Amino acid sequence: MSSSITSVLTENRSFPPPKEFSAGAKVGSMADYEALYRRADQDPDGFWGDVAGELAWEKKWSRVLDWKLPDARWFVGGALNLSVSCLDRHVSTWRKNKAALIWEGEPGDSRVLTYGQLHREVCKAANALTALGVKQGDFVAIYLPMVPEAVIAMLACARLGAPHTVVFGGFSAEALADRIKDAGAKIVITADGGWRRGAIVPLKDNVDRALEGSSVQKVVVVKRCANQVAWRDGRDVWWHDVVDKASVKHEPKAFDSEHPLFSLYTSGTTGKPKGILHTTGGYLTGAYYTTKMVFDLRDDDIFWCTADIGWVTGHSYVVYGPLANGATVLMYEGAPNQPGPDRFWDIIAKWGVTVFYTAPTAIRAFMRWGDEWPAKHDLSSLRLLGSVGEPINPEAWMWYRKQIGADRCPIVDTWWQTETGAIMISPLPGATPTKPGSATRPLPGIAADVVLKDGTPCKANEGGFLVIKKPWPSMLRTIFGDHDRFQKTYFGEVAGVYFAGDGARKDEDGYFWVMGRVDDVINVAGHRLSTMEVESALVSHPKVAEAAVVGRPDELKGQAIVAFVTPRQGFVADDALAKELREHVSAQIGALARPEEIRFAEALPKTRSGKIMRRLLREVASGSKARGDTTTLEDQGVLEKLAQSFSNED
Ligand code: PRX
Repeated sequence: MSSSITSVLTENRSFPPPKEFSAGAKVGSMADYEALYRRADQDPDGFWGDVAGELAWEKKWSRVLDWKLPDARWFVGGALNLSVSCLDRHVSTWRKNKAALIWEGEPGDSRVLTYGQLHREVCKAANALTALGVKQGDFVAIYLPMVPEAVIAMLACARLGAPHTVVFGGFSAEALADRIKDAGAKIVITADGGWRRGAIVPLKDNVDRALEGSSVQKVVVVKRCANQVAWRDGRDVWWHDVVDKASVKHEPKAFDSEHPLFSLYTSGTTGKPKGILHTTGGYLTGAYYTTKMVFDLRDDDIFWCTADIGWVTGHSYVVYGPLANGATVLMYEGAPNQPGPDRFWDIIAKWGVTVFYTAPTAIRAFMRWGDEWPAKHDLSSLRLLGSVGEPINPEAWMWYRKQIGADRCPIVDTWWQTETGAIMISPLPGATPTKPGSATRPLPGIAADVVLKDGTPCKANEGGFLVIKKPWPSMLRTIFGDHDRFQKTYFGEVAGVYFAGDGARKDEDGYFWVMGRVDDVINVAGHRLSTMEVESALVSHPKVAEAAVVGRPDELKGQAIVAFVTPRQGFVADDALAKELREHVSAQIGALARPEEIRFAEALPKTRSGKIMRRLLREVASGSKARGDTTTLEDQGVLEKLAQSFSNED
């Protein structure tokens, strides 16, 4: 990645926004961007107060911000019900009969819900959840496929002030169990299954296994696939049994601006995922503002963010951001290559999608599948393209621009994180000239910079830590249940500022080039994983004595997982064991964490103080071609020799 970024830096190719786009845009020139940035910088309270004022508040705040590092309270004293901003206020206007959600299932079925209908469904679900005992402050776990009920469930929880914790359907029963336990969820909403690549993902089965010995009292099951599921009377209820008969009337209660809205688990540098906690008023302000500005949203847009609701991108840009703006959201259940590699292009042409937001890994897969697939479809409805989740290599950026955007749609490469809640660094499509591979400049209101460990700003093109110097409304408030870890992780690395693990550089135009993580977090196909998490899964296997996991650059996925494993005495390091271990990791975490390659070693190279030499292992892993499933036994002599040359790592 870094070499291609360097080549572009030298080339410094830049694409100005198309004139027709700028003419109608909310921010149409760099001068306007600079003015907005300056205003936000000089008067953050005034700036964010104005943005928040565009949402529906029951009670206005008395102060915009209380900031005592690392604790921020935004819109202090304000009260709102988030679902009112996303639903009720649109239903009282012409948008009542506007499509809020256009949904397509993988088998080809579809549903359209207007704002009026979505509002009714959310009210019904809120009443049903109340009848099941859900109260303000109770955590609800959501483990659903990409079906409308996922959006309805999230909004119903928000309406009740019951924070949700959505768990991606690709996570295993074990991972689900950990998250349910950590959040202390009382209730789980799931489905009999979801469609993925023509097969059913057995979500309810996973929930049953996850709940063994747990205190969860109710499981609400959406019928999606007519899949046979085991049933526990008294605990399990069908969604349609409880929601369909519930009243469509539900009086929303206003909650404090800082009332928890959701926790979402993400990988940090330890083996234990962190529950990132977001609250109501500030989060919604960030999601609303960025959707409006970064996607230059218009009322006639059909906005498609391909992320699953199990990730923060799905929270902010499938659900809360677009709905707070009264937009029409497209949602698709399944895989991009089902039944063929042109499924996405078929959907864009069929529904007239105007804004398309996806991940570099997907773009690289499309490139590999061939230009003929998008070429078969009329993509002329598109006006803006977005990218998120990992650095986009300039080759993929150029392909996206040409083959999907017909050299006419601006591309917004958006940098942000689960912790930031909303987009932080991104072009404004009507204003910012783009450079392939750069997320360009921070949004107005976001004080991003690249600094050295002691906080000194880096010189142009000097690599350093990507930090945020001032609080912003959608910032995480804590790590659920571990405020100390929150303080240490995010505010303990570089004194006085937020740092969440990325290295970057700023070029002479002030453009940010994100270089990737500088910690032990790896990004596999846009999914964030901690090497320690995978290592913990490996060493929990009875045949493993020791394991070290590193990322290796991968053309398609950005990074691939390579595991170095020392088997316990008496066990043979062979293909069968490698296969067993890969399956074990998959069962412990989910298929997304399955190592690409397992390499056996008699002993792992260590420093004198006993630390595994990860840098060495990274080099060993990157130095060889992908070997897929095959087993490799490291030459111990070579490892030892290498270890000597790396001994300064101690
Ligand atoms: O390393 C950065 C990378 O993804 C990390 C955040 O992952 P997560 O919390 O799962 O959220 C993903 C979706 C917002 C970041 O620390 N990342 C995200 N977007 C970009 C990126 N790296 C480079 N360019 C991006 N546009």
